[in-house]
Amino acid sequence: MEYMEHRKLRMGMVGGGEGAFIGNVHRMAANLDGQIELVCGAFSSNADKAKRSGEALFLPADRCYASYAEMFKAEQARDADSRMDFVAIVTPNHLHFDVAKMAMEHGFHVICDKPATFTLAEANELAAVIAKHERLFGLTHTYTGYPMVKQARDEVQKGTLGKIVKVVAQYNQGWLAASADTNNKQATWRLDPTQAGVSCCMGDIGVHAANLMEYVTGHNITEICADLHSVVSGRTLDDDGTVLAKLDNGATGIVTASQICIGNENNLTISVYGEEAGLSWRQEEPNTLLLKYNDQPTQIIRTSVGELSHESTLATRTPAGHPEGYLEAFANLYVRFTEQIRAFPEAPKGLEPIPGVEEAIRGMAFIENAVSASQSDVKWHPFKTK
Ligand SMILES: NC(=O)c1ccc[n+]([C@@H]2O[C@H](COP(=O)([O-])OP(=O)(O)OC[C@H]3O[C@@H](n4cnc5c(N)ncnc54)[C@H](O)[C@@H]3O)[C@@H](O)[C@H]2O)c1
Repeated sequence: MEYMEHRKLRMGMVGGGEGAFIGNVHRMAANLDGQIELVCGAFSSNADKAKRSGEALFLPADRCYASYAEMFKAEQARDADSRMDFVAIVTPNHLHFDVAKMAMEHGFHVICDKPATFTLAEANELAAVIAKHERLFGLTHTYTGYPMVKQARDEVQKGTLGKIVKVVAQYNQGWLAASADTNNKQATWRLDPTQAGVSCCMGDIGVHAANLMEYVTGHNITEICADLHSVVSGRTLDDDGTVLAKLDNGATGIVTASQICIGNENNLTISVYGEEAGLSWRQEEPNTLLLKYNDQPTQIIRTSVGELSHESTLATRTPAGHPEGYLEAFANLYVRFTEQIRAFPEAPKGLEPIPGVEEAIRGMAFIENAVSASQSDVKWHPFKTK
């Protein structure tokens, strides 16, 4: 443990090869705080592409693996002073569980992109794998990493809003408004139920909005009513939808997500209303959090200005007025995960852990419950996590 405190942590990666989207974002985020070095990877299902992708990142040829199975075996066999410490999983959804399980069976901690698994049953199985192998699992719900999201959570916790009565979380995009170009690999697998799972839009972005609803309010969804659609004809999976929710304190919630809202980029917003005040935050203007009242002027809280919460301050890198953006929010998850690994098996002191297996299960439950509720004529459905 002492040794680990004086060196960078060594990361391997599965997925994120040539032409991939989020793998590169993970690498930039992991690099930002100088706590992590990428030492190996199995970057593609195609062995040649996997090797090429690793070499383009200047990794030694013997650590650019043809498959993740090969990588875990070879890394486990290495000496402790060069072996990777953890793996980042950035493949399409259907592979997450198998990769995470194999990583843990070989002794590695895991940070994985959302949705955590392909099915809810797998997410529950993942919890058993984590418990059996006593490894850490982190889930990259990116938006929880923003300073103003952390501030929003703090405002709710310290009672600024009073009792929470209503929450509206929205994530609208427009990039799937037309039939996807068959060369767009990100669109192709997201619309394919054998790779994405039971949902496209709710699984891809609705799950972020639902996670934010629970993260900011500290209240869990207990019942839902859902209406999902495939607006573009010929699609098997949803590209648009709305979920009504009841929260465990009696508040009501709305999660609305769409990938067919032309002109929307990453229009993620959350508004939380309590009996005393309301708050709202937009990811496309991340440094601003609004606190609203009926009987006094709106308060504008800005990242890095004045006295902010401990977590918000920790999540801030630049002086006021410089946007703390997507990459920084992502990096906040990585830097916290390194603290969790360094402190393991204890929890790091004074630091909130990043989303983990509980959020993995709740995220998969949100997706599966939303799909089945949408197919039902019954209005309200219990939020089942098994
Ligand atoms: N947190 C976020 O904000 C966020 C944003 C985008 C995507 N994601 C998630 O990240 C994951 C990847 O999404 P993406 O858009 O980057 O997809 P992508 O298609 O761009 O990249 C997937 C990569 O996985 C590789 N891959 C496929 N099978 C593999 C295998 N057997 N072994 C090794 N590599 C393999 C592909 O070659 C590709 O390089 C998805 O689960 C997605 O939901 C999260």
